[in-house]
Parts: sequence; structure tokens; C-alpha cells
Amino acid sequence: MVTKSVEKAINEQIRKEEHSSRIYLSMASWCQVSGFQGAAEWLYAQADEERMHELKLIHYLNGRGGNAHLADLEKPATKFKSLLDVFQQVLKHEEYISASINEVYAISIKQNDYSTGNFLQWYIMEQTEEESTVRTILDQIRLAGEEKGGLFHMDKELAAQAAKKRTSQLAAATANTGA
Ligand code: FEO
Repeated sequence: MVTKSVEKAINEQIRKEEHSSRIYLSMASWCQVSGFQGAAEWLYAQADEERMHELKLIHYLNGRGGNAHLADLEKPATKFKSLLDVFQQVLKHEEYISASINEVYAISIKQNDYSTGNFLQWYIMEQTEEESTVRTILDQIRLAGEEKGGLFHMDKELAAQAAKKRTSQLAAATANTGA
């Protein structure tokens, strides 16, 4: 059984993960119509990953005797200045999510809820990985600068990363269903 404060903190995290998914979906849509097909694929895959993060929290909370519920979400931004702008915002958002996960972890430990603490370890590692991936992407976009060839190459690289993301998502989904 989770305490009320752990339940509240996880529900807040569920809202943030769902919001992340929508933010990335909106960015993906902008990239798709702005000629960045690879970046769009990366962000569509990332949006699905965030939804998976959300679902994982819902199942965990309900499985521990809590009650997961969804909240209203603010409208995500629909216009961006450049590919650099998009990924700068992705990094800023991921840093915010990392801080938020750490906060949920701190609350669960304060409540002596070590099961939740254990469960959240996965999110803590995932955040470290996501931040690092996005920092590398940002470095590469900066290196490419405004040069068309560089950005074209970067977009191809993002398409390759998106294909890898899709493969691991499929593997995770297959493992979950036991197929
Ligand atoms: Fe689920 Fe990227 O935070």
C-alpha cells in the first residue's frame, strides 16, 4: 500500500509523463512539416516512450493499492525557431523531468516506501540516459550549424536513432506481453 503523499507524487509524475508525450508529439509534427523527417521520427518515437513511462507508473500505482488518475494538460507549443531550438527545449524539459523524478524518489524514501524507491531507480537511470543522448544530439546540431549539408546529415543520424528506438520499444512490448 502506498501512502497518500506517495500516491499524490506519482499521480503528478503521471501527468508530467503524459505532458512530455504531447510536447514531443507537437515537436515531431513541426519537424515533419519543416523538412526534418529524421528528427520527426525520433520525436514520434520519444513521444511513445513517454507514454510508456506514463503507463508504467499507472500500473505500478494501481498495483500498490493506490489510484492512478489523469489530469488536464496544457497545450504544447506548436511553433519552433529551428531544429536547435527544438532540441534545446527537449533538454530543458528532460532536466525538469529528472528533477521531478528525484523529488518523487525523495518523497518515497521519506515515507519509508523502499519498494517505490526501488521502482523509481529505473526512471532515474532512464533520465540520465535521455539527458546524455539529447546533449550529444545538441552538440551535433551545433557543429552542423546552419550549414544545409550538416543538418541533412544530422537528420539522417536521427532517423537511424529512431529506428533503433523503435526496435527496443518493440522488444519491450513483446517482453511485456510474453509473446
Ligand atoms: Fe519520461 Fe523523458 O521523461
